[in-house]
Amino acid sequence: MTDILRDLDALRAGFREKLAQESDEASLRALKAELLGKKGELTALLRGMASVPAEQRKAVGEAVNAAREAIELLFTERLAALQAAERARELSGSPLDLTMPARPVPRGHRHPVMQVKDEILDIFKQLGFQISWGPEVEFEANNFEKLAFPPDHPATDMQDTFWVDVAGGPSNLRTLLRTHTSPVQVREMTSHSPPLAIVSGGAVYRRDDDVTHSPMFHQVEGFYVARNVSFAELKGVLTAFVHRLYGDDVPVRFRPSYFPFVEPGAEVDVGCVFCSDADGTREACRVCKGTGFLEVLGCGMIHPEVFRHCRIDPEIYTGFAFGLGVERVAMLRYGIPDIRLLFENDPRFLEQF
Ligand code: DAH
Repeated sequence: MTDILRDLDALRAGFREKLAQESDEASLRALKAELLGKKGELTALLRGMASVPAEQRKAVGEAVNAAREAIELLFTERLAALQAAERARELSGSPLDLTMPARPVPRGHRHPVMQVKDEILDIFKQLGFQISWGPEVEFEANNFEKLAFPPDHPATDMQDTFWVDVAGGPSNLRTLLRTHTSPVQVREMTSHSPPLAIVSGGAVYRRDDDVTHSPMFHQVEGFYVARNVSFAELKGVLTAFVHRLYGDDVPVRFRPSYFPFVEPGAEVDVGCVFCSDADGTREACRVCKGTGFLEVLGCGMIHPEVFRHCRIDPEIYTGFAFGLGVERVAMLRYGIPDIRLLFENDPRFLEQF
């Protein structure tokens, strides 16, 4: 019996000593577990109880319990002392400066192409057009045939177009990534009756890749269909648009051109914003190649064939349509020499807009 009691005393004394050396809560707890835990020394001592004669067991049991309580108390006191010391250190130390500015979180903004697209759509909204939307994966018929492309037109070639298989799609209807936004005309004219004044903007795809062409780029498309719409309205609306986009003073000219879905068709040029005759730089201008004009959009009077494909009577209704590239507007406005800069998403480039 005296053996166990002596061991108990030693245990308690040892604990007190070690406790004094620990200075953080975790090691304090580890120390306590070494004694009182399942595999602790006190627990091991208790196992020795079997060899204690029956008449002494009660006294030894009480001594063990007393030792346990004493150890718990030592632990609690030491813990409280440590915590009090920690708190005192906090209170007397230099205070946290809550007014210090936080590390800045960089703030993003709309991509310049999206900014320009919205700006263009806004101008048409102010001119009375409604905004509409069309899918980027489009039926071949909407992208080509219904827009009166002849079946052998080069644009329909495998080389020029991204054809896509839509899983579970109808096998007789071929699908592709739309090569222009003009199929929105077909969708809207097929599902609504004139008068219609609609603009739409979004991504289009072509197998093109160089400094001025990207396989994915953005267009804005618009059209106006009603009774008695003439080329005069086309010129009036598009001139107003160009003036709002590039400034009231910029010269505008309409030049005959061909697109299968319009008749007559035209291209709109604006005076080159990079050079002027006055300072003699025109001839050397690489952007307009000395012509003094930049091509900015395609347009024309909607072809009767297109109306018929959309079940609109061309004897009753006429209309005009137009389409333009959004990246081109952004490149001209900001003097961006390479279209790929717009899609590399380098923050050093994008944060300039
Ligand atoms: N879809 C033509 C293209 O991608 C642009 C265009 C030209 C659209 C004339 C039109 C238009 O609506 O009338 O090149």
